[in-house]
Amino acid sequence: MTAERTRVAIVGAGPAGLVLSHLLEQAGIESIVLDQRTREDIEGTIKAGILEQGAVDLLAGIGATSRVHTVGERHDGIELLFGSEEAPERHRIDFPGLTGRSVWLYPQHEALIDLIAARLAAGQDLRFGATVTAVEGVDSDRPRVSGTTAAGEPFEIEAEFLVGADGSRSVVRPAVTGPSREGGYFREYPFAWFGILCEAPKSSQELIYSNSPNGFALISQRSETVQRMYFQCDPEADPNAMSEAEIWDALQARTPGVELKEGPIFQRDVLRFRSFVSHELRRGRAALVGDAAHTVPPTGAKGMNLALGDVILLNQALQELLLRGSSRGLDAYAEAASERIWKSQHFSWWMTSMLHLSPEASDFDRLRQRGELSMVVGSEAGRRYLAEAYTGWPYRTEL
Ligand code: PHB
Repeated sequence: MTAERTRVAIVGAGPAGLVLSHLLEQAGIESIVLDQRTREDIEGTIKAGILEQGAVDLLAGIGATSRVHTVGERHDGIELLFGSEEAPERHRIDFPGLTGRSVWLYPQHEALIDLIAARLAAGQDLRFGATVTAVEGVDSDRPRVSGTTAAGEPFEIEAEFLVGADGSRSVVRPAVTGPSREGGYFREYPFAWFGILCEAPKSSQELIYSNSPNGFALISQRSETVQRMYFQCDPEADPNAMSEAEIWDALQARTPGVELKEGPIFQRDVLRFRSFVSHELRRGRAALVGDAAHTVPPTGAKGMNLALGDVILLNQALQELLLRGSSRGLDAYAEAASERIWKSQHFSWWMTSMLHLSPEASDFDRLRQRGELSMVVGSEAGRRYLAEAYTGWPYRTEL
């Protein structure tokens, strides 16, 4: 079989892979995007999405299909809820007042529907159902990926550069890290989120992050008629073991003082989470972006924003390499991306540890956590610290 050729082979048609293909095309660099999932699967898997201003601007500029400003909703703050069951305290963090910035609630699958339509309209070579089984030659000038197409035919693609944008179970990552550095820096958490989607009106206009004596809960929204809520659970919990009434009791027990508007639950899932950063982000002619490079727990709402931060930098590096023949930007990529990655890792870990009740927590731990929350909401510096990180740092575009 003779290999097809392209300039950049991108494995993964998530936000990172699709946005990268757009940025490269704007610079006149051709790419092929491969994903083992079907288009229906990608567009139908409901995912969270809090977008920072920079991410909104980037998405809104891609094709005519972006609905980020029409379907997405601007959020000017979040609420933190904590205290005792009898005397719960609700504190609003006012984003524009503290930072001049806001965030947008725009679920990732909606962004993907827009992006796929925009990329296809622009003539992007985008192949669904294509499973990559081998990655070779990353230390040469001609890295290759091979595997099986949706029709079950073998394929082989030779590129000048290879990008792993293929999520936390990346098949490209082992070729980048090498066998001796496989894995990465990581931390597991002794709890998970039980998530539901329900048909109900909003219980709150803004997100409520609750640290209650019964554990964490998050009240989020999807639309006027569909709501997303989560409560802390055991990572081994079976999402189908609870009745709807038990789920509402669990949510209500973790949101004292909030009157939850109940409705039929039509999806439930258990989200395990961990913090992870790959030991290596680039090797030779291959690099990792997004969840292939790192994962964050969802409490800080950083996932998609962080993926786009990687892509903006890698795009610069690839333009230098492929248009000007210099590997300087590429050599700077891992270190440049790491700055934002570790800041986001810290913020996501911090929000997680401040808001969840660890199963082994002592009374000391609980009271210390209460002290931490009082410090954050009780001082303008504390509120601003949270607001700056939540609304995000401007994207760095220079390597
Ligand atoms: C969500 O709406 O699903 C969501 C929002 C904020 C988070 C996590 C998830 O921190």
